[in-house]
Amino acid sequence: MRLISIVNVAIGMALLAPAPALAERLLITVGADALATARTAAAEDTGFEVLAADEDVAVLSIDEAALDALTEAMHAHHGRCGGFMVHESLADALDALDAPVAPADGPPVDYRLERPHVVRAVLPAIEPGQLLSTIEHLSGMKNRYYRSPTGAAASTWLRDRWRSFTTRADVTVELVDHGYPQRSVVLTIPGTTLADEVVIIGGHLDSIAPGGTGSDAPGADDDASGIATLTEVARALLASGVRPQRTLQFMAYAAEEVGLRGSLRIASDYRRRGVNVVGVLQLDMTNYQGSDRDIWLIADHTDAGQNAFLGRLIDAYVGATWAYDRCGYACSDHAAWTRHGFRASMPFEARFRDSNRAIHTRKDTLERSDHNVQHAVKFARLATAYAIELARADLPAVDATTRPGPGSSSRSPLPFVALAIAAFGLAFVLGNRMLRG
Ligand code: BES
Ligand code: ZN
Repeated sequence: MRLISIVNVAIGMALLAPAPALAERLLITVGADALATARTAAAEDTGFEVLAADEDVAVLSIDEAALDALTEAMHAHHGRCGGFMVHESLADALDALDAPVAPADGPPVDYRLERPHVVRAVLPAIEPGQLLSTIEHLSGMKNRYYRSPTGAAASTWLRDRWRSFTTRADVTVELVDHGYPQRSVVLTIPGTTLADEVVIIGGHLDSIAPGGTGSDAPGADDDASGIATLTEVARALLASGVRPQRTLQFMAYAAEEVGLRGSLRIASDYRRRGVNVVGVLQLDMTNYQGSDRDIWLIADHTDAGQNAFLGRLIDAYVGATWAYDRCGYACSDHAAWTRHGFRASMPFEARFRDSNRAIHTRKDTLERSDHNVQHAVKFARLATAYAIELARADLPAVDATTRPGPGSSSRSPLPFVALAIAAFGLAFVLGNRMLRG
């Protein structure tokens, strides 16, 4: 892709110099069509600069203080199409001009379906009531904005909920600090034989509506539904005691709504550390059935091979209808993983144009989506099948130490009954004799 405006090296150097004391400088990319909106939103901010642009993407530097205004203007003027990304370095931001979608790295993945017996054993453990209660709790908070106290509380609440699913010492639940109040949450089930190969299921924990920190932003569909869906998958898998050969991670990303900030940090960290991520599934909006088919596989900023695998999983295990659609921009955290060279997919609740219109407002409530969580359960079934097949999960072994046997609590009650009858009989005989004598 050819650069139209040349990078301003002087500004770039200034950006690499130590940050000014107060506001943090952010490097962002926006769709070139949204450049005017971004310029107006940041007009008050003296630090706003366009560093580079091509036909599709513009690289900007802004003060962090201008991020709220920018986010609101993007949502107001571009509907849901004003996606932008926050980058760690100028080099990374400029990369977006040359290679907006990096090809997935690594050897080909074996997508054969080999564990129908495991999937069929675990699917009945999915409880719609559990999924519903997670949406209710998260959407009951004032907002989950990445800089608000309730946004921070959402992270610790979810960590504690995930921790309550198991007493296993090898399963960890951690908070990831990004330098703002809300933290990402990561649950890890270590793999047995292929522990360095990682399968990730994620969604975003934050919500947004006009007003930022002070707003009412229930985000019941966007994205309490996705977090509740993957939470129920984690609960069902742990309750079933299955053991994945590959490491399985569940991630609730912070700060998606303000430029995929949490997921970009984690994905770039994984790339830097050379983590072998086999596949990533993103669940963002699962509980509003807006179209004639059930599950829509987003075809842009995702991996075609993994998307085809999801289609086969739906046919084999979910019993739902599906088709492909596109966002047309980097609309959620799957795009962060794709940008860093990993295979990612996003099964979505509706055709893009038919999706829930209440998102990013105080009206994104459970009433607007689905109180019966029937739609979200289809995504929970899909994500369960994805986790089992891709992470190669096996049913728990029933061996001599776990099987009930002599000396365990399943001991027969017969000896006790016999003893009680004998004691009663003895007392009766003795009592009779005493009365007579
Ligand atoms: N859940 C939305 C993305 C979405 C909305 C996908 C409607 C499909 C249909 C997500 O949380 C979001 O709002 N993303 C931002 C972009 C992000 C990079 C700031 C958006 O769409 O504006
Ligand atoms: Zn959103």
